[in-house]
Amino acid sequence: MTNLEKKHSIIIAGGGSTYTAGIVMMLLENQERFPLRALKLYDNDGERQAIIGKAIAIELQEKAPEIKFEYTTDPVEAFTDVDFCFAHIRSGGYEMREQDEKIPLAHHVVGQETCGPGGIAYGMRSIGDIIELIDFMEKYSPNCWMLNYSNPASIVAEACRRLRPNSKILNICDMPVGTQRRMSQIIGLDPKDLEVRYFGMNHFGWWTSVKDKAGHEYLPEIRDYVAKNGYLTQVEVDTQHMDASWQATHKKAQDLLAVDPNYLPNTYLKYYLYPDYVVEHSDPNYTRANEVEDGREKRVFAAARKIIEAGTSKVGEFPIDSHASFIVDLACAIAYNTHERMLLIVENNGAIANIDDDIMVEVPCIVGNDGPEPITQGKIPLFQRGMILEQAMVEKLVVSAWIDHDYQQLWQALTLSKTLPSAQVAKEVLDDLIEANKEYWPELKQSPLHVN
Ligand code: NAD
Ligand code: G6P
Ligand code: MN
Repeated sequence: MTNLEKKHSIIIAGGGSTYTAGIVMMLLENQERFPLRALKLYDNDGERQAIIGKAIAIELQEKAPEIKFEYTTDPVEAFTDVDFCFAHIRSGGYEMREQDEKIPLAHHVVGQETCGPGGIAYGMRSIGDIIELIDFMEKYSPNCWMLNYSNPASIVAEACRRLRPNSKILNICDMPVGTQRRMSQIIGLDPKDLEVRYFGMNHFGWWTSVKDKAGHEYLPEIRDYVAKNGYLTQVEVDTQHMDASWQATHKKAQDLLAVDPNYLPNTYLKYYLYPDYVVEHSDPNYTRANEVEDGREKRVFAAARKIIEAGTSKVGEFPIDSHASFIVDLACAIAYNTHERMLLIVENNGAIANIDDDIMVEVPCIVGNDGPEPITQGKIPLFQRGMILEQAMVEKLVVSAWIDHDYQQLWQALTLSKTLPSAQVAKEVLDDLIEANKEYWPELKQSPLHVN
């Protein structure tokens, strides 16, 4: 059997995720280039996963009965005989995302899923869970690769670097993919035609070049457009970042660009460059977690229940999450050594020449069956270098605080974050986060010199 004929066994960790059904539909669409022999779902919330699992079982029975399908909460069953683990877990669920957003906002500080104190709180919950998944994978399927998009990806990636440096885990984000789809629409190309240069960390970076395959540079054209419209496009291209709050984020990119018109910004920079604006435009009683619970989560679970009740997927199929095909691109790159160029979160080691080697950066990489080879992005300017170094040290402090169970380093992390105004406010937010996260965080030791 040639390599290309090999069929793969996949486990989706976080089987009850709002994204699972769309990703399974996308995998079905991609059977020709990435054929499956088995598909499993794994979750630590059996009830939630069963709703998605039962509906997918019906879909697969009708569309691809040859793929062996099961869903389970048992890690041995889940992680035995798998080639790839797609991981999208949310430690603490939407209930805790809501706390991550609302607690900082109550202190007039950015409340966001992956940025600022909310992202730090989420990181403190995620690290242990991701390490557990890696250990299951290595124990039961030592050759398996984990393609992880569980958030906060940057802190998770730093924790993996510290705690499991040799594990086969690749951390990836869909935001640059989504924004590049917008860029390609702005200049009238196909997303696959773009070849970019980019530097930064996850949810914290800049494009320095957007070319077509022939080498024509489109950055000035895109910049002129973004200066007027942000990344809002005439005809909508995306299927994911569509709600009104996302449209406001795409539009805000014009103000991010104004700070440095040489490069195209990642939309997440708004939380660091305009935190006061973000707080003013947030409703402290109804945040993104509530929007998603009332929107995507309701839609996905209602669709699943409808399929289960009818016993057939003909009553309304799950939408195909086609924008997530980059995950298949990544799996193919590893399985078939395609050497595709993709943005991944990797240890710097000189890729960005004038920042530390041990920072987890997001840069274009060539991906083959040994994993990613980062492409060097050269030296970066003072402004971006300053921002990256500050944010990188915030994330390192979080991971150290988790490893050492250390209050002091976590307080320093919040104090250093650009989203917080002072050590005093950082402490007040942190103490509320500790209270809310008792069930999830390691118990933090207070330093003997700690002042109240
Ligand atoms: P969700 O809460 O709907 O789904 C997450 C699932 O993970 C839940 O069913 C939950 O029970 C399960 N889970 C939680 N902890 C677990 C553990 N320790 N072991 C096994 N399962 C566990 O959340 P969602 O909105 O669908 O998002 C899922 C994840 O994907 C989040 O981390 C989100 O931030 C991330 N995400 C990342 C990107 C990216 O660009 N990297 C894009 C979209 C979503
Ligand atoms: C983007 C980011 C993800 C993040 C998601 C949140 O896709 O890249 O990392 O999880 O947005 O979207 P939501 O719709 O849940 O707010
Ligand atoms: Mn992301």
